[in-house]
Amino acid sequence: MSLALIRTQPYTDWSPEVSPETRATLRRELEQGAVLYFPDLAFRFQPGEERFLDPRYSDGKSKNINLRANDKAVRGAAGTAQDLADLYNLIHRYATSSESLIHALFPEYAGHMTRAGTSLRPSEIAGRPVSWRKDDTRLHVDSFPSNPMLGKRLLRVFHNIDREAPRVWRVGEPFGDFATRFVPKTHGMWPGQAWLMKTLHITKRERSEYDHRMLQLHDLAKADLEYQKTVPQQEFHFPPGATWIVFSDQLLHAAMRGKAMMEQTIYLDPAAIGDRTHSPEAVLSRMLGKPMLAA
Ligand code: SIN
Ligand code: FE
Repeated sequence: MSLALIRTQPYTDWSPEVSPETRATLRRELEQGAVLYFPDLAFRFQPGEERFLDPRYSDGKSKNINLRANDKAVRGAAGTAQDLADLYNLIHRYATSSESLIHALFPEYAGHMTRAGTSLRPSEIAGRPVSWRKDDTRLHVDSFPSNPMLGKRLLRVFHNIDREAPRVWRVGEPFGDFATRFVPKTHGMWPGQAWLMKTLHITKRERSEYDHRMLQLHDLAKADLEYQKTVPQQEFHFPPGATWIVFSDQLLHAAMRGKAMMEQTIYLDPAAIGDRTHSPEAVLSRMLGKPMLAA
């Protein structure tokens, strides 16, 4: 079965000129849960930056080197002051490029987006010893235990910055089908649970029912090995130099192999979505018969 989830785009520039008709098509496809794939949208190293393809600049505790929006220094890195300054410049440039790409393709999102984290992930992903819950080689939708989204969408711009290795993903069935299968196995929160988790600093803010259900969907999918094997899915190799954009809270995805990647996360206000039919919050609201977004 072909899911045809990967939509190839011709652009070679991080601020491409795109006609309004094409923009409308891209937006519709992205919001339906497709992967917008830019095989020739390269992110260029400045002289000397190739050294950061080597995982030795990770501090050993975290696999990724992260830059939070508005921070002036990266986290999770080890090196000289010059290394850390150069890493900041590299990762910050990726954040700026990703944001200009989204602005060029989806000007309607511009006033509704918040820059979140940017990361450089310089370590091989295959064969890592992680718990099943953290195992991103299993199909999942992104949902974070400690960081409730309250219905905000997760828009991500990925780039394979490695010189040789493709980044190998699996992508799976539409969110609506996934939800139909697993939402009946999820449950709501206990009275006081959201308050308690925030008070105990398990979550950064009070978790909403939306986040609670999304997290269970993430876990139910990863825990179900039969589902992992049998769900309609497609493997795709993102070659070196390729860029791709997805709503990672909507697209079932798994990262199987790959060496060095950059990634930008953007939080998007759900009000900016043109057609919310396929949005996780809309799908869950319909299935559960109550709104998932605070009024
Ligand atoms: C993920 O978002 O699950 C991981 C993506 C990747 O590392 O390629
Ligand atoms: Fe993920």
